[in-house]
Amino acid sequence: MQPIWIGPSIITADLLRLGAEIAAAESAGVDYIHLDVMDGRFVPNISFGLPIAEAVRKATRLPLDVHLMIVEPEKYVERFVEAGADVVTIHVEACVHLHRTLRAIAEAGATPGITLNPGTPLSTLEEVIPLVGEVLVMSVNPGFGGQSFIPLAIDKVRRLRAILDERNPTCRLQVDGGIKASNIRRLIDAGADTFVVGSAVFSPELLVAQAVAELRAAIGEPAIQSVES
Ligand code: DX5
Ligand code: ZN
Repeated sequence: MQPIWIGPSIITADLLRLGAEIAAAESAGVDYIHLDVMDGRFVPNISFGLPIAEAVRKATRLPLDVHLMIVEPEKYVERFVEAGADVVTIHVEACVHLHRTLRAIAEAGATPGITLNPGTPLSTLEEVIPLVGEVLVMSVNPGFGGQSFIPLAIDKVRRLRAILDERNPTCRLQVDGGIKASNIRRLIDAGADTFVVGSAVFSPELLVAQAVAELRAAIGEPAIQSVES
């Protein structure tokens, strides 16, 4: 089993204090930063794009994990790599030329990731499993932070883990949407190793370091002593 990675989604952060929020997450010991790019067409919401990706790149040395919830992602993947993305994840439902687009991400120097909505079957990934470094199982219908976790994702993770163990064992299995200290352990037991956490980390209730420490405790890992910012 690969080490467990936790990455906050900045869409739920206080965007007026984005630099400070990222610094707090970094000193709390998160493993990467997740950027939710939404175009108002693939999903019913508009978030941010290349200028924010470039700004976040300057704010941290942590890996940037870009989640493209846009139509025609093939038009933008290279530009997000140029903006500093380390992983670029596209939706299987949004891309006609999956093989070509995943190859383009790799050729641009980033890790290609593929994701599917809760209602999309794993079989849609069959032909491209060997090409990716990350498969993202959406555990909410994409478009917003703060939604409730869809428990059906647990069995989907279990089935995907079996496929990856056979066909791409070093590929990361990521889950995104409604992840909390209360459900993360069940997902690890099902085979997930990489988590996006939005409202569980950036919330008015908890300091970022406390929120990350709670997640680490739920995973069974020691919290990282951080200098609270
Ligand atoms: C939803 C996004 C998620 C979301 C995570 O479309 O892809 O990354 O912002 O936020 P929470 O953890 O609050 O569901
Ligand atoms: Zn996301």
